[in-house]
Amino acid sequence: MAMKQGSSVLAPAPSFVMYEHIAKSLGMPFNGVQLNEDFSLDMSAMMAAIEEYNPAVIFLAYPNNPTANLFNDADLLAIINASKGVVVIDEAYQPFAGKTFLPRAKEFERLLVMRTVSKLGLAGLRLGFVVGHASLVEQLEKIRLPYNINVFTQMTASFAFKHIDVLNAQAVLICEQREVLLGQLSALNGVQVFPSKANFILFSLLDDSAQRVFDELKAVGVLIKKMADAEGLPPNTLRVTVGSKVENELFFSELKNILL
Ligand SMILES: Cc1ncc(COP(=O)(O)O)c(C=O)c1O
Repeated sequence: MAMKQGSSVLAPAPSFVMYEHIAKSLGMPFNGVQLNEDFSLDMSAMMAAIEEYNPAVIFLAYPNNPTANLFNDADLLAIINASKGVVVIDEAYQPFAGKTFLPRAKEFERLLVMRTVSKLGLAGLRLGFVVGHASLVEQLEKIRLPYNINVFTQMTASFAFKHIDVLNAQAVLICEQREVLLGQLSALNGVQVFPSKANFILFSLLDDSAQRVFDELKAVGVLIKKMADAEGLPPNTLRVTVGSKVENELFFSELKNILL
């Protein structure tokens, strides 16, 4: 695909890895701006990067993956106002966040709010959508491939949206379970737990090895994610997806045994 000379993509780091992968696969330079230690946006670094690179697209995951936090709304607005390119607020984890920029999507000519049905429990559909100002969506229409959403996906999605209350109720249960798990993990010695507004929890081991804990959990049939070092996260960081009550209880009791 031909790219306008000098177009680049910018996102905080760490964030969803696909922003960088896709930018690079399209031949666009990618710039990651390190988050603050508490995973908030480093606004002076963000503003300096916007000034320096003038990115064509900025991705802001809200809540962010893998850090699980929501960025500050005023910071997001400042970025939208400073950017000359498109700002995508990626609300993949919105069902668990209790907050959204969707009602504001049409206020800004350069803002797109992006959603997916994946985290609602329909990841197999491979369906996402964006909402934005008509003038911007019109431009996207020009490059959208014909028939890009197949009929089965369309039918399944419209059936799912008619029963959105079922999916929303499931998200509420996950949020309740998240709070239980956050409380349990916070009470463990040697574990630093980070706040979460997503359907996963990030935690660091202060005096143990993430690889050892990951391997031992896996050996008893519990698969979580070991975060790579040097990603702007503390060392020995793991990410667990909130599951059903039974799954979470199994995870937590196994973790407690392993850390003993
Ligand atoms: C922040 C963020 N955005 C988007 C996605 C993509 O979801 P999907 O490709 O399943 O629609 C993910 C998936 O992990 C994500 O973490």
